[in-house]
Amino acid sequence: MSHAPVLLREAADGLRVKRDGLYFDGTLGFGGHALEILKRGGRLIGADRDADAIEAARERLGSYAGRARFVHANFGDAPEILKSLGEDKADGILCDFGVSSPQLDRAERGFSYAQSAPLDMRMNREDTLTARAVVNERSEEELRRMLYEYGEERHAGRIASAIVKRRAAKPIETTDELADIVRSAMPGSARREKQHPAKRTFQAVRIAVNDELGEIRRLLGAVPGILRDGGRIAMISFHSLEDRLVKTAFRGWTDGCVCPRELPECVCGFVPSMKIVTKKPIVPGGDEISENPRARSAKLRIAERMAG
Ligand SMILES: C[S@@+](CC[C@H](N)C(=O)[O-])C[C@H]1O[C@@H](n2cnc3c(N)ncnc32)[C@H](O)[C@@H]1O
Repeated sequence: MSHAPVLLREAADGLRVKRDGLYFDGTLGFGGHALEILKRGGRLIGADRDADAIEAARERLGSYAGRARFVHANFGDAPEILKSLGEDKADGILCDFGVSSPQLDRAERGFSYAQSAPLDMRMNREDTLTARAVVNERSEEELRRMLYEYGEERHAGRIASAIVKRRAAKPIETTDELADIVRSAMPGSARREKQHPAKRTFQAVRIAVNDELGEIRRLLGAVPGILRDGGRIAMISFHSLEDRLVKTAFRGWTDGCVCPRELPECVCGFVPSMKIVTKKPIVPGGDEISENPRARSAKLRIAERMAG
């Protein structure tokens, strides 16, 4: 099992990792970015909501144990995580959103439409909500909205209706059953597209099961309060919903003045808390994409805490 870290050098350079600085990696995964932070002399707090990831990273990064601490937790709880370890602020915060290759590759986790497994998709197996519950218990309208909003699925209505029809006969239990229902609900033209017809549906269900967007919002809301002056965040997103949340937070931090345009100067008292370092997102080059196709849609955005 392994996972090739995406935009590794760009993210570590962007964080400006310094010796003995404290870095919070909220998506430890297989520990690729964390290892780079440690190699550059940083101290690490690594969090992941998947206990398997914590175990794998602990083993892989064992030789840095003196400078690395690992926590099985959600990155949305970053302030509480720091506090529980006796810290209040970090010099850098990194997140590399989405699922890891080990999660996708282990069929029994139920993330992959390419392998038959029970519908699970929980990143944290202690959570109670599973993909099986989402698919079998949400109303047709809730499913339609979820597929449309979290999967940006044009055929959300047809797929939701097909799910509801099928589960009336018997519950939908496995990934391949779901993939099959989606494929049959799609019009022929969509079935012939390059990407798998169930890709967007699986993304939507996974986001719902793990409240992925809610977690990102909670983290971004906490960032200015837990970043030391001059500290940086590096956020790597893989689809437009994630990237939009990052962009919106950046705009709120830098551009929150609500004064009417005609006023010559700001009187609303807005003080920017962060400055944007990457006007445009950093994206992987052709070499990285050919070595690691998962990097294809990655976007890295960086911002810096301003003194104040
Ligand atoms: C793309 S992988 C990270 C890979 C890692 N950067 C590396 O180089 O090995 C994403 C990881 O984030 C974790 N994750 C996703 N959402 C999370 C959240 N809200 N809190 C904590 N971990 C989360 C997943 O369980 C997964 O292990």
